Amino acid sequence: MESTIERTYPWWQRGSIYQIYPRSFMDSNGDGIGDLRGIIDKLDYVQWLGVDAIWISPIYPSPMADFGYDVADYTAINSLFGTLDDFDALVAAAHGRGLKVILDFVPNHTSEEHPWFVESRTARAAAKRDWYIWRDPAPDGGPPNNWRSVFGGSGWEYDAATNQYYYHAFLKQQPDLNWRNPAVQSAMLDVLRFWLDRGVDGFRVDVLWHIFKDDQFRDNPPNPNHRPGESLYEALLPDYTTDLPEVHQIVGSMRSVLDAYDERVLIGEIYLPVEQLVTYYGVNGAGVHLPFNFQLILLPWDAQLIAATITTYEEHVSAAGWPNWVLGNHDKPRIASRVGPAQARVAVMLLLTLRGTPTIYYGDEIGMHDVPIPPELIHDPWERNEPGLGLGRDPERTPMQWDAGRNAGFSTGTPWLPLAEDAAQNNVARERDDPASMLTLCRQLLALRRAEPALAVGGYQAVPASGDLLAYVRSHAGRRLLVVLNLGAHQQALEHSGLGAGRVLLATRPDRAGEPIGDRIALSGDEGIIIELQSATG
Ligand code: GLC
Repeated sequence: MESTIERTYPWWQRGSIYQIYPRSFMDSNGDGIGDLRGIIDKLDYVQWLGVDAIWISPIYPSPMADFGYDVADYTAINSLFGTLDDFDALVAAAHGRGLKVILDFVPNHTSEEHPWFVESRTARAAAKRDWYIWRDPAPDGGPPNNWRSVFGGSGWEYDAATNQYYYHAFLKQQPDLNWRNPAVQSAMLDVLRFWLDRGVDGFRVDVLWHIFKDDQFRDNPPNPNHRPGESLYEALLPDYTTDLPEVHQIVGSMRSVLDAYDERVLIGEIYLPVEQLVTYYGVNGAGVHLPFNFQLILLPWDAQLIAATITTYEEHVSAAGWPNWVLGNHDKPRIASRVGPAQARVAVMLLLTLRGTPTIYYGDEIGMHDVPIPPELIHDPWERNEPGLGLGRDPERTPMQWDAGRNAGFSTGTPWLPLAEDAAQNNVARERDDPASMLTLCRQLLALRRAEPALAVGGYQAVPASGDLLAYVRSHAGRRLLVVLNLGAHQQALEHSGLGAGRVLLATRPDRAGEPIGDRIALSGDEGIIIELQSATG
């Protein structure tokens, strides 16, 4: 029977999202690259883990210049990954297990091999010329202005055949679409309908804040805070290439498309400060449901800083929409490498006890770490364009570690990226039945989140704490859960919180479960606990 929580809160508010990087999740045909049949084979695992939705990074036809984020056909499946029939089977199998399916939608740019661009570049008079952003050279023959590519170098690529430049915010193989053209808008909104009609439950929209550029093509100003060693893109402030007011109108159109269906979710990939981020909820909630909140990825791992960040975020979000938190993705170093394996357990407790929808990156639930990639195996074009700055994203994209067998059970062929050196010890099969494993902890946290409305949908209240401690209460209908996390490696105690006594419900150290807690809460280094507090009257 449906509970009150289920009736009151849509699935994307009460549930958790699991990101699958399809090339690396499970290879069913031995070509070394993960595929849709592989995902289907592992849906029992995903269901067992206890998440509510999978978001799959792009699976469309693509020359893979940016590993699928260069789309050559928005309404088909890359043969590397399978067929549309496989996709339909995946949706049916996921739905049969109560799992939602979220696709990646890449609206800012296509692949240079997309038929739209192939046609667009044939002539200045081409029918689809203005589907992309073409400009005459500057008087000296150089690029039209100073706009840079996120992945290094100019954002403009010269096309000798027509003596014009086209703009690409990312690789030159990823020309930006011209969203000022209504024909582009309607073709792309139709793409959303195509997948929604096939039963997809929502979209994660790639680089949403990029899709409009200044129509006067003004130069971006220099960034006074640029430091040597940072990517060259950061040397300019992207004032005229990102976060333009026009984007909100299109977000509204995307949202209207989704609103014609039942309970679908629109998630925006947006890297912006929180004041700007929350504007993407839209006026009267007509924007994205979840503008991805990447602060836990971007901030130094410091308790005081994170506590202040949560408070600021809560203040900004409360009126605007539903919060969300992300700890890792396919573009950033893995949490276990950023904070170390012991602290990663605390981090996942933080992710899964904060107020708002959590997104878990595949493999983080077993504590996978970044895998060093030898130069000859580097795939990521960003690393190739700007070597040596640590920008490469291959280390966090390595194959999922399923068991201690060959290639960690990921593939019978040669995996497209190397496996972690510790894959034989650190894998699903080894961790599933180990009460002290990261996987067990994640699964317990996900189960607790489902069982406790206080965690899934309850209020958030910060509890003052000093040093490396971070503490807060989540509450719902009189039930109060106190979360205390030690973000440092040394023992610390929360003294006299004034919250009363309680009992440990779940801890990063399994032996603490059930322990009574009084006025002083002592934590070892790298420890986190969730305490059920006695009710005020009890
Ligand atoms: C997003 C994706 C990233 C991709 C880029 C360009 O940031 O997450 O992987 O390279 O967009 O599409």
